[in-house]
Amino acid sequence: MKHKDKFQHLQKLRAEALLGGGEKRIEAQHAKGKLTARERIDYLLDEGSFVEMDMLVKHRSKDFGLDKQHYLGDGVVTGYGNIGGRLVFVFSQDFTVFGGSLSEAHAEKIIKIMDQAMKVGAPVIGLNDSGGARIQEGVVSLGGYAEIFLRNTLASGVIPQISAIMGPCAGGAVYSPAITDFTFMVKGTSYMFVTGPNVVKTVTHEEVTSEELGGAETHASKSGVNHLTCENDIECLQKIRQLVSYIPSNNLDDPPRLPGDDPPDRLVDELDDFIPERPHQPYDMKEVIELVIDRGSFFEIHPDYAKNIIVGFARIDGYSVGIVANQPAHLAGVLDTDASVKGARFVRFCDAFNIPLITFEDVPGFLPGTAQEWGGIIKQGAKLLYAFAEATVPKVTVITRKAYGGAYDVMSSKHIRADANYAWPTAEIAVMGPKGAAEIIFKKEIAASEDPEAMLAQKEQEYREKFANPYLAAERGYIDEVIEPRYTRVRIIQALRMLENKADSNPPKKHGNIPL
Ligand code: HXC
Repeated sequence: MKHKDKFQHLQKLRAEALLGGGEKRIEAQHAKGKLTARERIDYLLDEGSFVEMDMLVKHRSKDFGLDKQHYLGDGVVTGYGNIGGRLVFVFSQDFTVFGGSLSEAHAEKIIKIMDQAMKVGAPVIGLNDSGGARIQEGVVSLGGYAEIFLRNTLASGVIPQISAIMGPCAGGAVYSPAITDFTFMVKGTSYMFVTGPNVVKTVTHEEVTSEELGGAETHASKSGVNHLTCENDIECLQKIRQLVSYIPSNNLDDPPRLPGDDPPDRLVDELDDFIPERPHQPYDMKEVIELVIDRGSFFEIHPDYAKNIIVGFARIDGYSVGIVANQPAHLAGVLDTDASVKGARFVRFCDAFNIPLITFEDVPGFLPGTAQEWGGIIKQGAKLLYAFAEATVPKVTVITRKAYGGAYDVMSSKHIRADANYAWPTAEIAVMGPKGAAEIIFKKEIAASEDPEAMLAQKEQEYREKFANPYLAAERGYIDEVIEPRYTRVRIIQALRMLENKADSNPPKKHGNIPL
């Protein structure tokens, strides 16, 4: 063969690989409203930055006629490229080849980029669209999954790992995204479950569709497995790009700082009138967040799950920060099991990746009731407490209104190593709400009174005036300063600048034992 022919042969192989499972299957993929594996990579990465690896890999199966069916690349496109000029590794499963199912060779390709990403300290982004284990390969395929799970686990806390679910993701395959830091799902075309509707029907006699059982909205609102629901593939890939802009490439890097045009000394006058006069009247904490951070920089995570707590990334003076905030507009901002776990997972991500934590607090306490107690509010709430307590990143807390009971301690209080704690004059920092407190400590007086209701109201007022304020905490230094709300942005920025070189650590240990 002449050199020219050799070059042509290479081009032919490449063209074959680029076609994946062929035109017909690509059409079918498009007809479902899905992009192909390669189109997805194009939308995800900076233009022209993708460098493909292992394009010519083939499976080695001989059973069930597979020796006659070969597709170059074997159902997954892998390689590296840039997002916003920063290196990331990516794998994108190709549903047009054996339904994107995972063979030994397919797994090896994923493993290769994961290992490389760990060596160079860059995020791994997985675009999942797969029928699961390559059925014809049996246990070899299961082994491939386990090799990936191991790497997901070892990479956890070292490099960010992001999963997009853009088609089926079933059986044990779900556990790779589950171990990664973030899972985004596409509405209508993706689903995740350990066992599908048919098995569910046999075992529990429940009739349920794939969508109800494990679609994007189910996992966004019911299970919390899905961190963000995206309308379509393109939105999902854009959201991943956005997410990457807030996070560092690895646990030794700082997150990118992108100063914008929002002045650091901007006073937020609107906040001075923000808190309603009536203590039980709700307000939207998201508005507080939006007013304080660099304009338009909030990237909310888990917006449809446990809405009583808000978590997400933002920029403030260009610093990338993680926001954790109680939401008085939903269940009065109470901490329940779901909110605790949601918060804890986010706090731990930020701590692992050097992202300062800003906490906005308005919390009446932990939610009472059998559902909560039996649902393990003790251990779930402990997760959030543990996460905040072990976090050594800069921690800034702003108490806007209620900070009651154990929830006061948990929400990044001074006592668990928060660095800068502020309270607004409207803050109520106490063991419990004034009504409950008055009912307990003035029980006898109220019972003996001719007008118990009036007596309770009077005692409640006395308690409110004495305890439901920020000054007892400020007297002890539990609060560094009581500030007018309009200074909140300025103070947070000053604190972040002061904390830029913060160094703190935990005692040496193999790992802690977070109450799982
Ligand atoms: C091999 C597979 C496959 C698989 C799909 N295909 N899944 N090939 N192994 N797991 C092939 C089909 O034969 C078909 O090939 C092509 O992919 C597209 O599949 P269709 O069924 O035509 O597509 P669709 O109707 O969209 O249905 C998609 C699907 C379905 C829901 C994913 O294919 C399906 O149920 N597949 C099996 C899922 C499964 O049970 N997987 C194992 C789960 S256990 P042609 O040649 O016609 O294009 C598991 C364990 C992991 O994954 C364990 C880790 C610990």
